[in-house]
Amino acid sequence: MKESFSGKTNRGEPAGYRSLWDLSGSINVNHGSFGATPRVILEKQARLGADINSNREAFIWSGVHEKVTAARAGVAAFIGADTEDTVFVDNATEGFNTVIRSLPLGPGDEVLLTDHIYANFPAPLAYLAKRQGFEVRTVAVPYPPQSPEQIKKSVLSAVTGKTKLAIIDHISSATAVIFPVKEIVAALNECGIDTFVDGAHAPGQVPLNMKDIGAAYYTGNHHKWLCAPWSSAFLHVRKDRQEDIMPVVASGWAKPENPFAERFAWQGTRDFTARLCVPDTISYMASLHPAGWPGIMKRNHDLAVRTRDFLCAELKMQKPCPEDMFGSMFTLPLGPLEFPEEKERPGNLYSIFEKKYDHRAYAAQFNGQHMLRVSCHLYNDEKDYERLPDVVCRMMKDHRSVSSNPSGALRSRL
Ligand SMILES: Cc1ncc(COP(=O)(O)O)c(C=O)c1O
Repeated sequence: MKESFSGKTNRGEPAGYRSLWDLSGSINVNHGSFGATPRVILEKQARLGADINSNREAFIWSGVHEKVTAARAGVAAFIGADTEDTVFVDNATEGFNTVIRSLPLGPGDEVLLTDHIYANFPAPLAYLAKRQGFEVRTVAVPYPPQSPEQIKKSVLSAVTGKTKLAIIDHISSATAVIFPVKEIVAALNECGIDTFVDGAHAPGQVPLNMKDIGAAYYTGNHHKWLCAPWSSAFLHVRKDRQEDIMPVVASGWAKPENPFAERFAWQGTRDFTARLCVPDTISYMASLHPAGWPGIMKRNHDLAVRTRDFLCAELKMQKPCPEDMFGSMFTLPLGPLEFPEEKERPGNLYSIFEKKYDHRAYAAQFNGQHMLRVSCHLYNDEKDYERLPDVVCRMMKDHRSVSSNPSGALRSRL
């Protein structure tokens, strides 16, 4: 391994981050898919669960709402929002469904998507479009992007007189690109078009301020880059758009005349522990870096930049996009690859990587090609990426598609 990369292991930072997570199996360079929660927080969640389960009635009847509201306030403070505009959902998928199922979209209306949209979101939208008679229009946003301005222009070029809602990633899934959401939202607002921002990857990867972004709707996961336990995310709805928004799972509090956040206060009996752990997760993680969350974000971004540069040099590839267009994860286009195993069982790439190459690299699909997506969080350091060039080369040899034509320089490594 080249000294220039592994020799630089995050000098000057507190040692031993890795030991704060219980991570079994091979090295995890795919934090972005499912996140990972530090041991201290999982222990706290387990204690909280045991406490609740020792007297469930006491938990429900004496203070569950106050506790959940306090946790919501902790989330709101972190994302630059008012508590009454911020509700808990289980995940970004629920945040997305809550909004698209609530809006009175119908014949003559158009919903605008980009081709970077999370792969599972077009299906529920297509179902609603068919049922309610609205149109879905998808605009291509170039990958690799050259500038935030180019992304904004692509989105705006697809607006029509019928566009009612635009669905825009903050940080896209398969391509890991940071979209200039504030600028896109402002431009769409001027055209009278509301935006739903899919910020599944944003909390903990980039600073957030809901008031500054100004989107009608924004959802973000807590379990990815914030490292909270699974089943916690937020949905933020701007005050002037709250009237229509109802929970997808509705109970007695979901009365249209109730304030927005109250409609979400009871959705049936559930496990509240993940939600209740979010403020502690935010402060615990912040305590791990001398500069708190801004320090974590910078540290992870810097590691991502160094790792990308190392991989590009080793694989003889061009750096695909400017450094400020990705956060703590980045992608490299690998061209079309063939994974028959994936066709048999979608999502099977994980087991291919882990079993065949003993590595948890992640290959996402975008517009007919595979993208290597690499994540960098506190528990990672340079050593975790040392084997990646060899893994990628082996994988590309083993799974090269007949139609693939890797760039000249990369071809010479295969
Ligand atoms: C951009 C994006 N949106 C939404 C989701 C869905 O997140 P969840 O499974 O937590 O609902 C993901 C998942 O990785 C994602 O990458």
